[in-house]
Amino acid sequence: MPEELLTQGPSLNENTQSGASILIIDDESGIRESLETLLTFEGYSLRMAVDGDEGLRILDQHSFDLVLLDLALPGQSGMELLPLIHERYPELPIIMITAYGTVHNVVEAIRAGAENFVQKPWDNEKLLADIRSAIARHRAEEENLQLKRALKERYSFANIVGKSEPMLRIFDLVAQVAPSRSTILIQGESGTGKELIAKALHANSPRRDKPFVPVNTGAMPSELLESTLFGHVKGSFTSAIASKKGLFEIANNGTLFLDEIATMGFDTQAKILRVLQDRRFMHLGGVQEIQVDVRIIAATNIDLRQAVRDGKFREDLYYRLNVITIDLPPLRARREDIPALVQHFLERYAKENDLPPRKLSADAMRALIDYDWPGNVRELENCIERGVVLSSGPIIGSDLLPGHITGRSFQDALLVHNPNASLFDILEDIERRIIIEKLERCNWNQTDAAEQFRIPLSTLNQKIKRLNIEIRKRGRE
Ligand SMILES: Nc1ncnc2c1ncn2[C@@H]1O[C@H](COP(=O)(O)OP(=O)(O)OP(=O)(O)O)[C@@H](O)[C@H]1O
Ligand SMILES: [Mg+2]
Repeated sequence: MPEELLTQGPSLNENTQSGASILIIDDESGIRESLETLLTFEGYSLRMAVDGDEGLRILDQHSFDLVLLDLALPGQSGMELLPLIHERYPELPIIMITAYGTVHNVVEAIRAGAENFVQKPWDNEKLLADIRSAIARHRAEEENLQLKRALKERYSFANIVGKSEPMLRIFDLVAQVAPSRSTILIQGESGTGKELIAKALHANSPRRDKPFVPVNTGAMPSELLESTLFGHVKGSFTSAIASKKGLFEIANNGTLFLDEIATMGFDTQAKILRVLQDRRFMHLGGVQEIQVDVRIIAATNIDLRQAVRDGKFREDLYYRLNVITIDLPPLRARREDIPALVQHFLERYAKENDLPPRKLSADAMRALIDYDWPGNVRELENCIERGVVLSSGPIIGSDLLPGHITGRSFQDALLVHNPNASLFDILEDIERRIIIEKLERCNWNQTDAAEQFRIPLSTLNQKIKRLNIEIRKRGRE
């Protein structure tokens, strides 16, 4: 019984893939020996197995560039072994060794994943050429795979999709500035991924194990915002019935994400400026200074420079924040990212809803690429989620996309479903769709939607009730 042996011959041949390792699984000692002589001479390192069990065991313990597998092994035949190996090591090339006149088996073997076959007695030069080309292909694939992995790991941006030039530049910039403590300002329209980038900055910094604390500075009245940021001592204002830590303390050693910074009041801006300058602050109503080490990332969906010009944003704070700026381009300026984003969201929402994978029909994809996406990636995400949930088969057609995206008129869309609709039904449906579309673009924030419609919030609320519009949760992580 031959030892599982490892022999490394002299590397005499120019074409040798020096050090490449081959596993030979063959029960005939004569075959093993002649292969050993030939391949060792070529500089390959070899291991031998006499049957399937031994072969699988060795495969588990070492890595190989190629397997030479005898078709007619005793016990478990090569034909049975082949799919087992192929399943465990799908990338590993397998060349079958066959006796003359087993053409039928050979075809079957190739179907089952064998790379190639060699017939006994073989021609040495041809065998070597086949081995070389299989190993070269295998190595190229491995290399490619490793490159891809390295790229992903380098940034750990696994959940951020983007192949367009501007996004690649942003990834580079993020990778470059993430490790420092510098303040970063992220500018971009609503739904372009500002929060995602802020998280990536944190995740790629030495602070990654410390808290990432987002705070929506635009959504709160000043007093509440200040007590949220700086904390307060008991009794510092009427409702301050107990002392509370501020987010600046909670984010200590981590990152504080000040979202929608443009709408913050002037006084709060001044206080934030002070923390940015010397990383110290006081609780509301407190007397003691607190020192913190917090990295600040701020985001805005309006042009801060313009806000400064309009006298709505402090110039000094603007310069403090604007140390490094990341400008996220709107989706319509990087349409080449749309197919990959679609794919990403199709997978996410099929999984989330326990559905089999879905695909988009060609005309649906065309409509998505042509559309202008005022709500950017978030709008695209909502649109795909809706398509996945509404789909009943594997293909999502353009009929499952909102009419304003495909360019179908509201009336057409309605009439498809109900040819007997009256004018009143049609008008109601149009109103419903317009309101839903606006809400989607406003991330289901009814105050924003009412403002954009220039109607009171209460009127919008009444309409939502009357039209049976189901209110969805705001955004998602
Ligand atoms: N490049 C991207 N790859 C994958 N998902 C993305 C990308 N950009 C944005 N998204 C997704 O789109 C949604 C909106 O992103 P995010 O909340 O980061 O945007 P935002 O710019 O902060 O929006 P807003 O101004 O409305 O707060 C999120 O669900 C996010 O995961
Ligand atoms: Mg955001």
